[in-house]
Amino acid sequence: MNGSVVALPGDGVGPEVIAEAERLLALVAPDLRVERYPFGGIAIDECGDPLPAETLAAARAADAVLLGAVGGPAWDGGARRPEEGLIGIRQELGVYANLRPARYGKVDLLIVRELLGGLYYGEYGVRLDGTVYDTLEYHPDEVARVARKAFELARGRRGRLMSVDKANVMSTSRMWRKVVTEVGLEYPDVELTHALADSTAMRIVTHPETFDTLVMENTFGDILSDVAAGVAGGLGIAASASLGDNGPGVYEPVHGSAPDIAGRSMANPAAMLRSVALMFRYSFGNASLADHVDTAVDAALAAVPTPDLGGSHTTTDVTDHVLATLRSLQLEEVS
Ligand code: NAD
Ligand code: IPM
Ligand code: MN
Repeated sequence: MNGSVVALPGDGVGPEVIAEAERLLALVAPDLRVERYPFGGIAIDECGDPLPAETLAAARAADAVLLGAVGGPAWDGGARRPEEGLIGIRQELGVYANLRPARYGKVDLLIVRELLGGLYYGEYGVRLDGTVYDTLEYHPDEVARVARKAFELARGRRGRLMSVDKANVMSTSRMWRKVVTEVGLEYPDVELTHALADSTAMRIVTHPETFDTLVMENTFGDILSDVAAGVAGGLGIAASASLGDNGPGVYEPVHGSAPDIAGRSMANPAAMLRSVALMFRYSFGNASLADHVDTAVDAALAAVPTPDLGGSHTTTDVTDHVLATLRSLQLEEVS
């Protein structure tokens, strides 16, 4: 496998899990060029900008971006926030579809989160009377493009797509529903349903195995993907891929910088390693290598669980196990 990967370690457990991703790449994709760049809080400390121009330029030129995590109490109240870097790089790279799979036992669902619009990117400000506001806006084209991506993904899975909204309350949701329904006419083989976000959150908790593919607004997707992660083994194992129409994909754990466990070798690297598998699948077209990595990660989680899964193994123990499994396979056949 040839190409270039930009690694953005970031803050907290970010550098700890990125180091594990680099070990995996060194074994199964030694010809990939992997280069680290400053990003997030650490970049604010170094140069006052969570997304330095040099980092963005490198990301644009790469085949894929691997991201650890950003943020932490150290940057609370500062003029710049580490999270701005994340919001910024997603927008700059045009990665509008955020895939967040949750797989665990009988659970196998995929949340497709709209990533470049909605409440995160609407107009915001402060009025003279002190009122502070964020607004939720969508252009129909922004809904259509993520819907199309979700239908394509549902088609490659079990053929069911659920669009999640608050059409009983919000006008953007009613437009969302109409546009998704229209796009659905192009996918007669995919069964489309609509559901409200609040009851869907509950159903993900009570009946997670009944879902296939879901598509939703940015904020709904942020929240429901953590809910889905919670029923499917926790944030330590939840991976994500952010894709646009062209340019590099961004691959990162769903979790954040986990300040409560940072620096103690307690972070589960599975979310990061599974994000590398998603990178093999979507940026390098190597589904079989992705499958091998996923299988090796599953085995490691069962054999050497970290504290988030009730075990006492360390971050590196998990990767050691993954690498041992992969070494025992005939990797030449797949890489
Ligand atoms: P978090 O995801 O960092 O942590 C939530 C809980 O999950 C914590 O108890 C943490 O220890 C645990 N956890 C997270 N990752 C884990 C792992 N790999 N292994 C084991 N346990 C893990 O969320 P938070 O505490 O709400 O946020 C902390 C910071 O992270 C904030 O600054 C937030 O903005 C930022 N954040 C960044 C990203 C990102 O960079 N993509 C995502 C979410 C949150
Ligand atoms: C995530 C995170 C980010 C988001 C934050 C840190 C900006 O929670 O990737 O899920 O809300 O998108
Ligand atoms: Mn989140």
